Amino acid sequence: MTTYEFPQDFIWGASTAAFQIEGAWDEDGKGESIWDRFNHQPYRILNGATADIACDHYHHMPDDVALLQALGVNSYRFSISWPRILPLGTGAVEPRGLDFYDRLVDRLLAADILPMVTLNHWDFPQALQERGGWPNRDSAGWFTDYAATVFERLADRVAYWATHNEPFVVAFSGYGQGGFAPGVASMPQALKAVHHQLLAHGRTVELFRQSGYAGQIGIALNLAPFLPKTERAEDIAAAKRMEMLMNGIFLDPVFKGAYPQGLVTWMGEMWPDYPTEDLTTISQPIDFLGINFYFAQIVSFAAHGLLKLNSEQYVDPGWGITDKGWGVCPSQLTALLNHLKQDYGNPPMFITENGICLGDTKDEHGLIDDQVRINYLRAHFQAAYRALAQGANLRGYYVWSLMDNFEWSDGYNQRFGLVHVDFDDPKRKRTPKASFDWYRDLIENNAVSP
Ligand code: FCB
Repeated sequence: MTTYEFPQDFIWGASTAAFQIEGAWDEDGKGESIWDRFNHQPYRILNGATADIACDHYHHMPDDVALLQALGVNSYRFSISWPRILPLGTGAVEPRGLDFYDRLVDRLLAADILPMVTLNHWDFPQALQERGGWPNRDSAGWFTDYAATVFERLADRVAYWATHNEPFVVAFSGYGQGGFAPGVASMPQALKAVHHQLLAHGRTVELFRQSGYAGQIGIALNLAPFLPKTERAEDIAAAKRMEMLMNGIFLDPVFKGAYPQGLVTWMGEMWPDYPTEDLTTISQPIDFLGINFYFAQIVSFAAHGLLKLNSEQYVDPGWGITDKGWGVCPSQLTALLNHLKQDYGNPPMFITENGICLGDTKDEHGLIDDQVRINYLRAHFQAAYRALAQGANLRGYYVWSLMDNFEWSDGYNQRFGLVHVDFDDPKRKRTPKASFDWYRDLIENNAVSP
């Protein structure tokens, strides 16, 4: 019987994002974000849901830290709302915004929980969107100034920083396809948004180093294996295009100082112009790579469309496809970590997000017995363990998510939490699910049962 015992200093955590949990969307001087604007427009979000209140974390923060403490996590990953700190994105600072995160950090430390702070989890200031958003090169400077303000206040106490969360989604769902805020459908703008987020990342890492802060800094990317449907050359090439578009477009500039040439050639006319020195800035050494893992895809050649490919979800035997439309495939987490070990120099890595959405209805006793989530997490922890045992430099694992929350354009329809939140209750009552207790025991044992 294999015992999946993790290294002593392995970090177990849980993740959230400001926009998905905080609510208080216009309180204490907070400015509007692009997601505020977007979710107030008709037909953008399923059932017309908004995150105006969400989990009301802004008013329940001490209770949520108490939940984290009861869970026994070593670290908590949350994000900062940029327009809560700088209502217009640049210029005047809102002290009440900074104070909120200051209190959160202190409470976490008092509970022996290391903060991991994400600076950009998508809720970009609307005022800066009106000045062109991420496709405007000035965005790199706006972001670095915002980061400097946050560092000055919090970097004496924060262990881990992530510049961006899933810049792919910002660029391609927000600007490329338009299903997410700011709702722009333009491939050239999406590619500029990629480059400027990377430039903002590089400049922020540079600033962080120059200031000599004690913590570590990295970036959280959504990464996925892309497997060709057959061994035919056209399917292999199609899988490679997808791999370059989603993974290589961020991994290569950060770790190798160059975009994948095949992608640049494929995008042709649409590829943005920029000074070559940008890539030196972008490839500043980072302390860790954050990985958000949810799925893998099987890719085949198709005669139509920009990328000339079709993709379908990869599903491991015995598993299925979730309500989100994502295939469950723990084997591919092992494969992904091994790929990063082999092809990107085995950097220190954290799984910064992984989890599953379920219906999670209460039984007659008011309990949520989410055995499927337990099975899902167990299988993924074991998959991570396998990669670790094969030499992958994995340092920790954050479950998405601490609690049910506003799942972007899916509104409140999809529950990812270890803790159930009653969105019909004005007090947003929290009820830990069975997976919460299971995860608590696992953290205590620092081992996964077979
Ligand atoms: C990721 C996001 C996170 C959450 C999960 C389900 O793409 O980073 O905010 O929505 O998906």
